[in-house]
Amino acid sequence: MTAGRVRVNGEVVTELGSKVDPVHDEVTVDGKPVSINDGSVYLMLHKPTGCLTTMDDPYGRPCVAALVPTDAYPGLFPVGRLDKDTSGLLLFTTDGELGNVLLHPKHHVEKTYEALIEGPLCDAELDPLRVGVELDDGPCNRARVTLITGDEPAAQVRITINEGRNRQVRRMFEAIGHPVIKLHRPAFGPLSLGDLPEGKWRMLSATEVADLKAATETM
Ligand code: URA
Repeated sequence: MTAGRVRVNGEVVTELGSKVDPVHDEVTVDGKPVSINDGSVYLMLHKPTGCLTTMDDPYGRPCVAALVPTDAYPGLFPVGRLDKDTSGLLLFTTDGELGNVLLHPKHHVEKTYEALIEGPLCDAELDPLRVGVELDDGPCNRARVTLITGDEPAAQVRITINEGRNRQVRRMFEAIGHPVIKLHRPAFGPLSLGDLPEGKWRMLSATEVADLKAATETM
């Protein structure tokens, strides 16, 4: 479809959606250089448990900064945070404007979590979360919650929330009497981790960046 017109670092690209590093790759169309975006970098990390969402820890504890290419991309910062004991998709960017929009509480970016919680549990016990459970810092918005298995000792639940308060998912499950044992975030807004291994990062594709920006425009 691109008929050999697009080259990345001199190589013809035949696959639409090919991954491009917007800072270091040179993209040409019909031999002319084109700008993929304003030079901002967007990547996702599969954050492992046990590391802090901070770019610098004065006590030298393991933190996400060691897992992303901070030397190649100065100014990279995480959009929001995951607790030390939570794994999953953590978005990083150098685009301060988009980062702020995604984090602003008036916007409602959906975040999906897979939680292992203390069981047993029946579906009706999740109803307070679907209505909007009360926490000590105010009522939560309604969550989408699916019970995958309610078996003892641990039940498996998938929950989607559109807020980002401190330890929110853990506090929501505590509020209904089923504390979280394990928490993982497979999706953030339109982005999914897919099969990205734990501890690894990858650049977002141009389509993913466009989807992310589109998601903030419709909020
Ligand atoms: N909610 C939590 O409780 N922890 C996280 O890391 C993210 C959401």
